[in-house]
Amino acid sequence: MSLPAGLSFSQAPPIRVPFRFFLSAPLFGLLAALLALWYGPSLMDSRWQPSVLALTHLMTLGFLGMAMVGAMMQMLPVVAGSPVAHPVGVARAVHVLLLPGVLLLAGGFLSGMYWPMRLAMLLLGSGLAVFVAAVGLSLKRASSNNPTVVGMRFAVGALVVTAAIGLTLASNYGWDWWLIERVRLTNLHLTWGLLGWVGLLVAGVSFQVVPMFQLTPSYPKPLTRWLTTALFALLLLWSAVQMLPEGVQEPAMLAVGIAAAIGFTVYAAVTLRLQLQRRRKQSDVTLLFWRFGMVCLLLALALGIAGQVLPVLDRVQGDNFALAFLFIAGFAVSVVNGMLYKIVPFLIWFHLQSLLMGVVRVPNMKLIMPEPGMRRQMWLHFAAVPMLVLSAFWPPLIYLAALLFGTSMILLEVNLLYAFRIYQQNAKLASKVEPSPT
Ligand code: HEM
Repeated sequence: MSLPAGLSFSQAPPIRVPFRFFLSAPLFGLLAALLALWYGPSLMDSRWQPSVLALTHLMTLGFLGMAMVGAMMQMLPVVAGSPVAHPVGVARAVHVLLLPGVLLLAGGFLSGMYWPMRLAMLLLGSGLAVFVAAVGLSLKRASSNNPTVVGMRFAVGALVVTAAIGLTLASNYGWDWWLIERVRLTNLHLTWGLLGWVGLLVAGVSFQVVPMFQLTPSYPKPLTRWLTTALFALLLLWSAVQMLPEGVQEPAMLAVGIAAAIGFTVYAAVTLRLQLQRRRKQSDVTLLFWRFGMVCLLLALALGIAGQVLPVLDRVQGDNFALAFLFIAGFAVSVVNGMLYKIVPFLIWFHLQSLLMGVVRVPNMKLIMPEPGMRRQMWLHFAAVPMLVLSAFWPPLIYLAALLFGTSMILLEVNLLYAFRIYQQNAKLASKVEPSPT
């Protein structure tokens, strides 16, 4: 096994930097599933219910946020050649602030009490500030010619906007001063969060990792050069359009929305096409997760645009639960899950390589993360997503969907822990065999 080309691992952070985030992520997914089981079909009554808001943030800030923060801290030195300064301290601070922050935010929604919400604001605000400052400095030093770095910069910018609006909205719950523009602000917040922070990061990162890990041809140059910039500009335009007077606003929003949907559609279609042209014909779990994720992204985009163009469909969709399930669980969770299955065994192998050099043989990556365990979890996830989407139209299905999703999260955690245990056992072995200093 050799190191993938184009990567510099000499500055990679210690393994516990990304792992503390990776091991926490599925636990938030499991909590979300338990919450869905507890509240059942009533979840579909309205998107504004505390239970829905809690569940949304356990998934977006808990599962996705943890995995994405961990992946960025790991990738910056490797992909961009620009490490985060003091990675161990930064990772510890961000993790220790975000973890209770997400739980308190969910608890604040569910309990309706002021103090958990105020404390959540403090913890999430400071945790995200430390993260943004640390990765912001590292991204500033990185080369602007790298499309992944450009995508990451826009994604972090979108995270700042998302968090600023999120904290404003949360202050409404923390002090009860009743915000006048609540609906408009919430829609701005979720658009920047889902399309900006999640969408742009996935797109930027895939320019590097899809060709490298899935052995596909490279993305077309014009796409890697312009896509994330164009999408970020459209997000800015979409936000500016909100200020226009009623009457002009609706058609302008539709036009910008369609342009953004076309951008993401091109991205998903090109990714699927590249995967068809890959050199290795055998499919692996990461590839299947990514394909599934791209198809869900295309379906979510189609549903979103159809809802705008055909008001009848918008009424059938109610509060767009099907769209949210397709985007969050179908696209974002699948892509992150697939990435974890590539990054985790590789990182463990890589760190053991330097620890065990000349001591014992480094375990093969297939032993670190066995394929049957990953496949079982993948099929559970592939079964959970359609059930979640269908539960938007027939709410009792949420029980089955939550059961499948929760079980898949447990298996994901088990798979990650299994791999991490192999690292720990081998690292212990290496420390015993190491010659003592004379
Ligand atoms: C500092 C971090 C964040 C805070 C404090 C926060 C806070 C909030 C609050 C208070 C609401 C409810 C608005 C209302 O009822 O008036 C909300 C809605 C929402 N947030 Fe966040 N949020 C944060 C981060 C994020 C992120 C990173 C994402 C996505 C990646 C996200 C996605 C959403 C979504 C999708 C909704 C709408 C849920 C629905 O319509 O049911 N949030 N957020």
